[in-house]
Amino acid sequence: MKINKICCIGAGYVGGPTMAVIAKMNPNIQVTIVDINQERIDAWNDDDVSKLPVYEPGLPEIVKETRGKNLHFSTEIDKAIDEAEMVFISVNTPTKTYGKGKGMAADLKYVELCARNIADVAKTDKIVVEKSTLPVRTAHAIKSILDNIGGEVKFDILSNPEFLAEGTAIQDLLKPDRVLIGGESKEAIEALASIYGSWVPQDQILRTNVWSSELSKLTANAFLAQRISSINAISELCEHTEANVSEVARAIGMDSRIGPKFLNASIGFGGSCFQKDILNLVYIARSYGLNEVADYWEQVIILNDHQKRRFSDKLITTLYNTVSGKKIAMLGWAFKKDTNDTRESAAIYVADHLLSEQASIAVYDPKVPKAKVYADLNYLNTRLEKENEELVEVFNNPYEAIKDAHAIAIMTEWDEFKSYDWNKIYNLMKKPAFIFDGRRLLDKNSIEKIGFKYFTIGQ
Ligand code: UDX
Ligand code: ADP
Repeated sequence: MKINKICCIGAGYVGGPTMAVIAKMNPNIQVTIVDINQERIDAWNDDDVSKLPVYEPGLPEIVKETRGKNLHFSTEIDKAIDEAEMVFISVNTPTKTYGKGKGMAADLKYVELCARNIADVAKTDKIVVEKSTLPVRTAHAIKSILDNIGGEVKFDILSNPEFLAEGTAIQDLLKPDRVLIGGESKEAIEALASIYGSWVPQDQILRTNVWSSELSKLTANAFLAQRISSINAISELCEHTEANVSEVARAIGMDSRIGPKFLNASIGFGGSCFQKDILNLVYIARSYGLNEVADYWEQVIILNDHQKRRFSDKLITTLYNTVSGKKIAMLGWAFKKDTNDTRESAAIYVADHLLSEQASIAVYDPKVPKAKVYADLNYLNTRLEKENEELVEVFNNPYEAIKDAHAIAIMTEWDEFKSYDWNKIYNLMKKPAFIFDGRRLLDKNSIEKIGFKYFTIGQ
């Protein structure tokens, strides 16, 4: 089956970069990304590609090259669905904040709305591709909705989880370790495989059944997150012994069975996927009565929460057991470097804890706008929005954020932090000047030589 037109519902961190790369590598296919959020679509269409809603290295260049040719951004959802032979669903699937499965299960209301939208609009057969990370058996639910309200139209459902990591999305898409396609219809699978086949070698395109594909995505994220919680657990032990977590990570990572990646001890993992997907896994396991399986994976989250909490506890105890009225400068708000995404960022939780101890917080992040910082804190509902505004200031300049601070907390591993003038920063701060490095970013010896009191994870 030859695909000429693709529609992608959801112009976010996954849909945007993925479709931009598909369009670039398939100049004969027209790709339209639609979204209900007009502001987001306007930003994707902004002449100035530095204003795209998703900050991702390499993305502006691809958008510039393809936009208006075979890549389009629009809010005309029905029209784009109607015209396409293949529809990707790439909407957000956050953890439920209400009702059954609150705090654990994925909220599938956006996915269901998409399925209903497709069923209502479709007049011709469609291949529907689930791209959002979804719990196992979601494809089945989508199929049921489509078949029951879609009339005569035939729908084939594929699961095609995306493995890109933010900050390296374009490289990950251009050179994926593998592409995974789960489905029943061989014809539909091959139609999607041929789109990826324009740049991905065929032996790296795996074909599985739908459920294996869905579960593989959750499992991949659970394994990756587990590595981080494992090394973070060791980091705490290092802080109580003479061991250094980087040396331990290097030593174990050279074992080819373990491998060197994803062993950076940190303030704790964030991002839109790891926590959500593990909670999903835990929820599913519990729903089948598999309590040992559920407990096993839940521990990865428990350790991660502990890591964030003990970092802020350490900061408070070191500052003579009180941060009330003290200025804490937070460098970085994004959940990792090279993204403007802040979902589940450790910075949010650390800030919230410090604010509960009446600290005043000064935030600087190279890519996260001021409004996002307040929105993240307000979302937690810990205190009134007015109080967050009084206690938190967001700066465009790191030196202003740091001026007169009692302590700096490094939350994101942005490269630019390493090249700051740390002598100048020392002079700007209250003494003793403390640095709490949640990313093991700075060199302990040279920082201590300047006069800082320096604490880093795992050492
Ligand atoms: C992750 C998966 O890597 C990706 O395959 C999946 O599609 C989506 O989820 P992402 O969340 O974008 O991608 O970023 P990732 O690089 O995995 O980092 C996640 C979090 O773990 C970040 O907060 C990062 O700082 C942290 N991390 C990562 C560590 O603390 N230590 C590490 O060694 C690696
Ligand atoms: P992800 O990281 O999975 O890409 P994002 O939150 O960045 O998640 O993007 C999801 C996008 O999906 C948002 O821009 C949101 O407005 C959009 N969206 C959610 N529901 C619908 C819907 N029913 N129709 C169209 N777009 C939707």
